[in-house]
Order: sequence, then C-alpha cells, then structure tokens
Amino acid sequence: MDEKMVDALNSQLNAELYSSYLYLSMGSYFESEDMSGFANWMRVQAQEELMHSMKIYDYIIQRGDRVILNRIESPPTEWESALEAFEHVYSHEQKVTGLINQLVNLAISLGDHATNNFLQWFVAEQVEEEESSSGVLKKVKMANDSLSGILMLDNELAQRVFNPPAPKE
Ligand code: FEO
Repeated sequence: MDEKMVDALNSQLNAELYSSYLYLSMGSYFESEDMSGFANWMRVQAQEELMHSMKIYDYIIQRGDRVILNRIESPPTEWESALEAFEHVYSHEQKVTGLINQLVNLAISLGDHATNNFLQWFVAEQVEEEESSSGVLKKVKMANDSLSGILMLDNELAQRVFNPPAPKE
C-alpha cells in the first residue's frame, strides 16, 4: 500500500484501541456506581472495539505492510452521570465515523480500491454504532434521572452479549 495509507490505517488502529480503552474506563466508572448493566454494555462495547482493531491489524499484515503500535492515550475516568457518559459515547462514535470517512477519501484519492472495499465494512458498522449509542442515549434521557427508570434500563443493558466474528477461513 501507499505509505500514506499504511500510516492512516495504523492511526485508525490506534483510534480503535483508544475506543476500547475509553469504553473500558466508562465500564469501570459504572461498576463504581453499582450500575452493572451499564457496565456490561461498556464491556461488550470495548470488546467490539478490540475486534475493530484486529480487523485493521490483520488487513495491514494481509497487504504485506507493517503494523506499528503507538502509545494509547489515557481515557477520562469520571463522568457526572449516565447521561453525560452516553452523550460522550454518541459524540465519540460520530467522531470515529468522521475518521472512517477520511480514510475512505484517502483510499479513493490513491486509487486503492482494495482498501476502499475493506473500509466499506467500517462505513456500515459506524451506522450501527451511531444507532446503538444514540438509542441508549434516548432511553437514558427518557428515564430522566428517575431511579426506577434507570434501574429498568440497567437490567436491559445487562442483557447485551458480545458476538465474536466467525473465524477466518
Ligand atoms: Fe470502532 Fe465504535 O467504532
């Protein structure tokens, strides 16, 4: 691949690892608030982000290029409320969508059709990521600080499970 493409994919790999870190940190925050369902949602989200990271890791290697692991920034550790945390999740996912779009633009400008094709999985995934985070955000807003509403939502979020991708052939 063009060096610019490899560098940009390595940066995205770092961004996905940061996302995993961010959601683990939010999970730890929710554990400390005894909101184990919210914490579970974050734990599953962190696993999803690790899966995204590994997709990029594998693709760079598949193309015969070199994965470079850079320092992962420390995520924040405290949020005021579930509302603030989920506003953060949603805005973070919108930011990631922007990064994916920039990667697609770069692949197209370089005429790298294979990478553009690879990135289309992420384009579709970001639609789901924004939908699921804005969905929880809406429910947190509806609960509007009522203890019973938040407890019901905590029970619902406890049901989320990570579905690992099928092994590669
Ligand atoms: Fe890897 Fe949540 O985007």
